[in-house]
Amino acid sequence: MRKGKKEVFFTAELMHWNQHQNFREMPWKAEKDPYKIWLSEIILQQTRVEQGWNYYNAFIEAYPTILHLAAATDKEVYKLWEGLGYYSRCKNLLFTARYIATNYKGIFPSAYDAILQLKGVGPYTAAAIASFAFNIPKAVVDGNVMRVLSRYFGNKTAIDSTEGKKVFTAQAETLLDTSSPGKYNQAIMDFGATICKPKSPLCEQCPISARCTAYHENAVADYPVKEKKLLKKNRWLYYIIAEHDDAVTVRMRNQKDIWQNLYEFILIENSSRLTPDAFIASSSFKKIVGKQCRVIDISPEYKQLLTHQVIHGFFVHIKTKNAIVPEGYHIEKLKIIASLPFPKFINNYLQKTMLLKP
Ligand code: ADE
Repeated sequence: MRKGKKEVFFTAELMHWNQHQNFREMPWKAEKDPYKIWLSEIILQQTRVEQGWNYYNAFIEAYPTILHLAAATDKEVYKLWEGLGYYSRCKNLLFTARYIATNYKGIFPSAYDAILQLKGVGPYTAAAIASFAFNIPKAVVDGNVMRVLSRYFGNKTAIDSTEGKKVFTAQAETLLDTSSPGKYNQAIMDFGATICKPKSPLCEQCPISARCTAYHENAVADYPVKEKKLLKKNRWLYYIIAEHDDAVTVRMRNQKDIWQNLYEFILIENSSRLTPDAFIASSSFKKIVGKQCRVIDISPEYKQLLTHQVIHGFFVHIKTKNAIVPEGYHIEKLKIIASLPFPKFINNYLQKTMLLKP
């Protein structure tokens, strides 16, 4: 695509804004170590900058180089990742650290294609690493970038369509400042996050509003256009916390589902909402617990929003005469529970109860 006046203006104004008005601070900004850049990008796939900051610092402190990370145990790394969610990303993070340790002697690959081959690294993250660490002229394209471009160019191609990805990616490459690809990419990310925000964008402070189509149409809220509305699936999880002799029954989740490699208590999933009393009276509860148990606590409903699912659930804490260990579960002493990685959903409960207190 050829760079017209509108494109030249965009790039020049964005770079000028970045140099003089972009005061967004981040610990990995201007970082040149590809390991640290990669780590920050994987964390930022998962959370906002403000929250990612703490996780990034904790990871760098625990694992200052990729070889340190590669040598860590799964459990230790999952524990540090706890709260970020989407554990397949943590799994890929470890896989890639070990892959680079084994196949590249711990030296992060420096070619775009090799970076893109890494597990957990898609085109956006590969462009970020390649441009920040190695000055390779690849433009980052994600939902934020597409929002900025769709507004500025008044482009109503759906950003979640194949066509949209193609069109906006080509446009992003045209706009890239190839003499400073790292600075440009950081600038557009920061611009999308602080000025051209999804809701209530700061058009009055915007350096490119003079040529922004959506702004002139007074229709900024109409962009970007999306094809699909996300329908979330509801799930109801009922957890039995079976305590016996200062120990509880747990298992590590390994089914093809959310929360892989994280721990949980005895789970009964129901296809619809049950009151906790109805759950305790149900045959599935009785089948597991039998008759002899003391109910210590019934939680209120807990809720966690995931990208494609809404998780609802209750926790029923019981004490039993004998240990209850259904197939696939095992017993852990209460005092080590706090060191196990749990989904945020369960952790929220644990933090509100006695169970995490030493
Ligand atoms: N989102 C993803 N990567 C980012 C970065 N480097 N800076 C700000 N936001 C980001």
